[in-house]
Amino acid sequence: GAPLRVALLGCGTVGSAVLRLLAEQAGDITARVGRPVEVAGVAVRRPDRHPGVPAELLTTDAHALVTRDDVDLVVEVIGGIDPARELMLAAFSAGKSVVSANKALLADDGVALHAAAAEAGVDLYYEAAVAGAIPLLRPLRESLAGDQLTRVVGIVNGTTNYILSRMAETGAGFAEALAEATELGYAEADPTADVDGFDAAAKAAILASLAFHTPVTAADVHREGIAAVSATDVARAAEIGCTVKLLAICEKVEGERGASVAVRVHPAMIPTSHPLASVGGAFNAVFVEAEAAGQLMFYGQGAGGEPTASAVLGDLVAVARNRVAGVAGPGTTAYAGLPVAPMADT
Ligand code: HSE
Repeated sequence: GAPLRVALLGCGTVGSAVLRLLAEQAGDITARVGRPVEVAGVAVRRPDRHPGVPAELLTTDAHALVTRDDVDLVVEVIGGIDPARELMLAAFSAGKSVVSANKALLADDGVALHAAAAEAGVDLYYEAAVAGAIPLLRPLRESLAGDQLTRVVGIVNGTTNYILSRMAETGAGFAEALAEATELGYAEADPTADVDGFDAAAKAAILASLAFHTPVTAADVHREGIAAVSATDVARAAEIGCTVKLLAICEKVEGERGASVAVRVHPAMIPTSHPLASVGGAFNAVFVEAEAAGQLMFYGQGAGGEPTASAVLGDLVAVARNRVAGVAGPGTTAYAGLPVAPMADT
């Protein structure tokens, strides 16, 4: 059949890995989808900074690219709220499915975006937005859709996990471990989103929304970062057989007014015998507890170009297959779940 044409928005670490893997695996992806998947254009801010991308694909006009008639699918790896939100809505209006890695946007406005995709009869997939390469959102959205989830607990930020792991291994203080993480490229130039727990809170909101079929936004998440964790805290934890981890915790709680969902991100001491305690470096891991399934654990690389691109390409194959079949995948607009607990209750 005719090729499916993809607009790529953003070409940083993840976008360039997506382009490279898509080119390398063109034959396999064609076979898996049933039609070739081609890049129609790549929207970037500074075309001169992308010498590896064929010049005829580069454009600075992302809006024109997503609404072009010869574009079928959109991959958004720009990040941030604006202009990503407007571009995504423009893509839906033009009948194009979107694959996104944008945790901030999905955590902020997931309900409206899902509604817009559903109204247009197209897909919105965002596996790469939480825990990079780890298949987690589709298991929650699809594989576990017939079960009752009770708890999701995870290490979903690699930068802070690296910092806390180094503090435990070397006895270093927070500032020293952060400087090392920055030097090695784990922490970004502005590490606030990681260190203060905003990145983990956005991911927790997305996980809770899918796990409990309830819209949870980042603003609903009680959040505490790791900047106040000292070398002494880490040493004292070790003395009593514990390790300090930044955890994202989403759980069903029973209150006076019935059940609700409580979501929080904070440093926690966990026994070294707990499987989450041995998750080191920039890895992520998420525990899920469900009434029928019992305990499940998801583990893998939560960041980096290729691991994140793996999740983006998995979604791209899924939305391309749906397009070929003339269907839209499962949405999450029919929220029927539990209320979100007020922060004071958590
Ligand atoms: N800054 C994030 C992390 C990248 O450290 O986990 C992946 O979202």
